[in-house]
Amino acid sequence: MDKTRILLVEDDVSLGAMLGMELKRRGHAVEIAKSGADAVAKLGAGEYDAVITDLTLGDLDGLEVLKFAKTRHPRIEVLVMTGHGSIDTAVAAMRAGAFDYLTKPVEPAELNLVLDKALEHSRLVHEVERLREEVKDKYSFDGIVFSGPPMRKVLDLVQKVASTEATVLILGESGTGKELIARALHEKSARRNGAFVAINCGALPEGLLESELFGHVRGAFTGADRNKRGLFEEASGGTLFLDEISETTPGLQVKLLRALQEGEIRRVGDNHPFKVSGRLLAATNKDLAKLVAEGKFREDLYYRLKVFPIELPALRERPEDILPLAEHFLRKAKKKLGGTAAKFSPEAAAALRRYRWPGNVRELEHVIERVLIMASGASVAAADLPPEMQAPAAGAGKSGFKDTLDDAEKRHILQALEDCGGNQVEAAKRLGVARNTLWRKLKAYGIPAVKK
Ligand SMILES: Nc1ncnc2c1ncn2[C@@H]1O[C@H](COP(=O)(O)OP(=O)(O)OP(=O)(O)O)[C@@H](O)[C@H]1O
Ligand SMILES: [Mg+2]
Repeated sequence: MDKTRILLVEDDVSLGAMLGMELKRRGHAVEIAKSGADAVAKLGAGEYDAVITDLTLGDLDGLEVLKFAKTRHPRIEVLVMTGHGSIDTAVAAMRAGAFDYLTKPVEPAELNLVLDKALEHSRLVHEVERLREEVKDKYSFDGIVFSGPPMRKVLDLVQKVASTEATVLILGESGTGKELIARALHEKSARRNGAFVAINCGALPEGLLESELFGHVRGAFTGADRNKRGLFEEASGGTLFLDEISETTPGLQVKLLRALQEGEIRRVGDNHPFKVSGRLLAATNKDLAKLVAEGKFREDLYYRLKVFPIELPALRERPEDILPLAEHFLRKAKKKLGGTAAKFSPEAAAALRRYRWPGNVRELEHVIERVLIMASGASVAAADLPPEMQAPAAGAGKSGFKDTLDDAEKRHILQALEDCGGNQVEAAKRLGVARNTLWRKLKAYGIPAVKK
């Protein structure tokens, strides 16, 4: 470990030398300042972990040294040494941020004891800061960032179901993180060493999708010039993730059902079924129950898939996740793109929280990347955000349900105030809220307090 750097400020040369020796003997790196001015110069130029200063120095008050040290190095620990009978100055020193004081004549043993305590304190403060930094990423489960209870619940489910063989149906609006959850389910399962194979069922026409999933034999169709393994086989021992499962045709749904029920598939153009052992996960942003009711999705497959549903809440339903996610994406984008901004201004943070995020987490990720490029300061300002996120006043009432609610509440409050002739106590009673609550809301809505 590095030596602790200590600045000893003592105008009594022999005392300074004696204490300095003692500190060095204890393994610290010590510098001695023989006057207040000397101490200030040294503090201005160097880095120290602790300062031990006499309070009565020839030129400068030890308190000044203490204050300078604290301004220059906020985390420095300062011990003061006082003569007998100057308890008042010792108290003043404590108030100014000294860790402790020693009365002269200073016993080396006592000095060591108090210094160790101060250094331990400083170490703890550092540790707390380090942990705080870590906490920023604490709400992270294999790269899944969250803060509030809704995602906590989802991840508890993920944890529980991952180790089972259950088929999981992941539901949620576009961009809520369905694929991320599918990968987490794979990573947390006993199949983590097998392959994770994902396919978007909406991206291929039926025939191609079928041969992609189940494979085909040579000559099965024009262009099938050799045998080909399908994704079910690729995912044997691993996980097969069928994204946008709602986009499959009824014909394919029958085959999927059989694969699920029998654990068997047939390559296209082949009559011999064979066993596969991949675990199946499926996802959709559609309302499958509705598609079943409309006859667009097979009911039997639906029930087979939804044995274990995991529903991802939309981002607007977990507003407490917005900022941790935004900060996560900002750090990520900064690594990739550079840029100056390392945080969000309070106004920008409020605007991010207020927005409805129809494209959910994916939209947030893209917005943050764009914003980082726009922002020129040390923090992202509200003005750096896309226009649709700015000033609630501009689009109030149109930009979302919450705004409409806020509008209604504001109108309601104004009406009550008017009915009570501006009397806030009366208005609060009428609204059935505490006066403080009304007062806070008036402030929030910028309603001036006209009359008492
Ligand atoms: N909680 C989260 N923490 C960190 N990143 C997230 C989180 N949720 C989503 N993302 C990121 O947001 C993006 C969109 O997530 P993903 O592709 O999993 O969404 P999806 O629900 O599958 O979307 P779609 O329905 O459009 O396919 C990805 O880059 C993903 O890494
Ligand atoms: Mg997806």
